[in-house]
Amino acid sequence: MTEFSTSPGTRDILAPDAARWRAFQTLFADVVEAAGYNFMIPPMFEDLGVFLRLGESTEVVTKEMYDFEDKGGRRIALRPEQTASVCRAFVEHRPTTPWKVWYAGPNFRYEKPQQGRYRQFDQVGIEVLGVDDPYLDAEVIALAMKFYERLGLQQVILTLNTLGDIGDRENYATALRTYFESYADALSPDSLATLARNPLRVLDSKRPEDQQVIASAPRIRDFLSADAGRHFETVVSALQLHGVKFALEDRLVRGLDYYRRTTFEFISTALQSAHTALGGGGRYNGLVEALGGPPTPGIGFALGLDRTLLACDAEGVFDAPTLAVKVFVVDTTGGLHAAKVCHELRAAGISADRAFDNRSMKAQMKVADRSGSAIAIIIGSEEVAADTVVLRPMISGDQRVVSRSTLLDEVRRELAPS
Ligand code: HAM
Repeated sequence: MTEFSTSPGTRDILAPDAARWRAFQTLFADVVEAAGYNFMIPPMFEDLGVFLRLGESTEVVTKEMYDFEDKGGRRIALRPEQTASVCRAFVEHRPTTPWKVWYAGPNFRYEKPQQGRYRQFDQVGIEVLGVDDPYLDAEVIALAMKFYERLGLQQVILTLNTLGDIGDRENYATALRTYFESYADALSPDSLATLARNPLRVLDSKRPEDQQVIASAPRIRDFLSADAGRHFETVVSALQLHGVKFALEDRLVRGLDYYRRTTFEFISTALQSAHTALGGGGRYNGLVEALGGPPTPGIGFALGLDRTLLACDAEGVFDAPTLAVKVFVVDTTGGLHAAKVCHELRAAGISADRAFDNRSMKAQMKVADRSGSAIAIIIGSEEVAADTVVLRPMISGDQRVVSRSTLLDEVRRELAPS
């Protein structure tokens, strides 16, 4: 037993997975930067007040926040998500609109750790501030679907809903509260507790005893203002135009309170675990104002990296990249020649590694084997005296002596695709 291991809900991401994470973020950058989004890096902790704007009936706020008082007596929280930080940054810097940003990085929620649910988890996401156009909603959603396609995922379902404007949402919440209260006897104790905090979240209950009551609950579509209704119709037809398939899901309320109008979630049908939501998002008109800014519409999404990679595993796509260096240098004359050859190769853009500690030829060849390199360069005292090296293609083992002066050309020829 070691004295320390990772804290519950956190993990070390080691090779080759760590390289896969980086490739994931790079691919995301490719997709969203091609659509005009600029990278931003919000801080990992902020004034607690920023995240309290996520809504006081949000579990992320009431139960899961990593908040503490710092040495200066400030109430600080580790970010549970990045949308609130992006809006705070907008208010602080007042960039011109539309402001289109993307971000990547860890978030922190004190949740019960499980497969696909962690206390530190990564997201990639985009946000657009300053545009109310429903065609943007469709574009934002289509961009996420494009990213899933680029990953190679095929079993991702887009679920879509609208929560109306602030007044619609409030009227709907009141109607739901009245309805659920009239069936209080039939609801599970957990749902009754949820009802006291946020009647919309009762719709999320997966408990069998709640299902019948939920099935006949009022529907958001009966509470939509004409404007919100038209906005949603346009989103739906624009998605059809983009050729994006979706399922309308009028029970989709999402876990954060800031959503207005369009909301959506991406579900993996390849995952067997309880946590199949790979990502989600929606409009949050009103959040910028809640953070002290001017009235500014906003929309975006965040995709959970940890969970999306689990979905990639389940579908057998987006493998970890190969990490092996191209050349491994074995030097039994002390190591100086290995240093020179490595330097030369790396300067020429050819990845190279070497053995250290002047170990035996056998021991160094073992490391070369394990490295997965395509070629070994072997240097002994005979080669040094003759100003040559031995070049050994690892697969064929068909080694040859090459002159030191032509080494780079020989390596390049050997690595060229045949
Ligand atoms: P969210 O639905 O809370 O939305 O999180 C988005 C995704 O992050 C989830 O679908 C899931 O894949 C991943 N995720 C959340 N919590 C965990 C966890 N504990 N462990 C592993 N993965 C997790 C948001 O965060 C919003 N900020 C999305 C957004 C952006 N809405 C508008 N703009």
